[in-house]
Amino acid sequence: MKIAFFELEDWEKKFFEAKLSAHELSFFDEPLTEYFDQKCDAEIISVFIYSKIDAKVLDKLPKLKFIATRSTGYDHIDIAECKKRGIVVSNVPSYGENTVAEHTFALILALSRKIIESANQTKVGNFDLTDLRGFDLKGKVIGVIGTGKIGSHVVRMAHGFEMRILAFDPLKNDELIDHYGLKYVELEELLSQSDIITLHLPLNDKTKHLISESNIGKIKKGAYLINTARGGLVETTALVKALEEGILAGAGIDVLEDEIDIKEEWQLLSKKFSREQMAINLANNILLKNPKVIITPHNAFNSQEALQRIMDTTEENIEGYVAGKIINQAQ
Ligand code: NAI
Repeated sequence: MKIAFFELEDWEKKFFEAKLSAHELSFFDEPLTEYFDQKCDAEIISVFIYSKIDAKVLDKLPKLKFIATRSTGYDHIDIAECKKRGIVVSNVPSYGENTVAEHTFALILALSRKIIESANQTKVGNFDLTDLRGFDLKGKVIGVIGTGKIGSHVVRMAHGFEMRILAFDPLKNDELIDHYGLKYVELEELLSQSDIITLHLPLNDKTKHLISESNIGKIKKGAYLINTARGGLVETTALVKALEEGILAGAGIDVLEDEIDIKEEWQLLSKKFSREQMAINLANNILLKNPKVIITPHNAFNSQEALQRIMDTTEENIEGYVAGKIINQAQ
């Protein structure tokens, strides 16, 4: 089979060269987007989240039958369009629940203990404590939206910090209720009661702008918002306003709405933007400069152990497809 990989590092290339040596492999460093202008007659492709697979991109890949995304989320792939064309998509459903949960707590602790400001100060020889007082997590209320694999891990960690735990998810996990004193509540109650709100749900048509202009005012004054799930879950312009108005005291963010546009800023010059996209881009830039906000560059998944698990599952997904047995289908 002809298999094309996009967005791989050298060590990852070596892994697939060794594991999939029976196939004809090609490698492209860049993401697969509408700007991809090389010939590609691959039947299988493997991409990461900066590849945006829509109808325009699929038109460039006439032989394509299978996509193995090396990620859990697959909102960067137009699944309906793939289905229409008979293209199967597989994802990596589980590789880093602890990895992303640990990054979530890295953001929470960086905010609660002012780690960035503290480290920046001491680097220039300033040991003054005046502006460095933080707050305890013990006894605070954490509101976990989405108690699937990552959210459950966050719940277990929050319990270790002796936090009180609220959650919102249409699917209730009884084990979390029984073992960690978690209480499921409606979204509005979670927003109004939580000192820290953290998002762990997929982005889709139903969850886009789950936190928006319409409900951001319900958030407890002075709370913190953590987003390691997907940027589009939060209406960025509303987030900027909430920080401005002091509804939110701060935010820890690993994912930005339309983050591909921020990463590939040069493409902005050649792209036609809607008014909404322009507003999101501007709001992202305001967030980047806001000292109350800590932003990491979609890095929550990025531990050595998690990457190895991603590679192993991607190989299994590809081998499965080749053998006629589809596993981890994204739909
Ligand atoms: P999961 O599928 O195990 O859990 C998702 C949970 O969200 C489920 O319990 C589901 O019932 C719940 N949910 C769905 N719609 C909801 C709604 N409207 N309101 C509240 N809850 C809702 O997924 P997992 O593995 O925990 O991952 C969550 C998300 O984290 C992924 O979809 C992905 O977008 C993101 N992620 C981010 C990474 C990063 O590097 N920043 C890495 C890996 C995942």
